[in-house]
Amino acid sequence: MAIEKTFAICKPDAVEKNHIGGIISLVEKNGLKVKALRMMHMTRPIAEGFYAVHKERPFFGELVDFMTRGPCVVMVLEGDNAIAKWRELMGATNPEKAAEGTVRKLYGASVGENASHGSDGPETAKFEIGWFFPGYDVG
Ligand code: RTP
Ligand code: MG
Repeated sequence: MAIEKTFAICKPDAVEKNHIGGIISLVEKNGLKVKALRMMHMTRPIAEGFYAVHKERPFFGELVDFMTRGPCVVMVLEGDNAIAKWRELMGATNPEKAAEGTVRKLYGASVGENASHGSDGPETAKFEIGWFFPGYDVG
């Protein structure tokens, strides 16, 4: 398996509820490494650019409201098959459908407030890492 990097967020709901440690603990217990980490409060342009792929979707305004309502933690993770592995550890977008033990099952409240983000492919990971960590060597 290839060593990959992916991009992850502890979303504002998870930070509000003191779940930063719980989420990072799942990352580390499952063999992924935190390679970069920063706490930030997204502005609207930053959140809109990050989720630009969803800009025509009916939930876009709500999504940007949510992502900008408080601080979040943005991270670069690395490991074997990191992109798929982190998606699996996060669970389904809707916490009700997420498997037991996943981030979203443990800490998510709804489709909107689902505690975490993970890149969905190599190109997305490159874009997202560059969006939040300009100049970072994605490799
Ligand atoms: P994410 O990008 O945040 O990791 O989530 P995802 O890949 O599992 O889901 P995606 O389809 O990329 O959707 C991005 C975020 O938009 C919100 N969403 N709301 N109301 C709705 O029907 C709806 N669908 C998606 C979710 O917060 C999702 O994480
Ligand atoms: Mg997505």
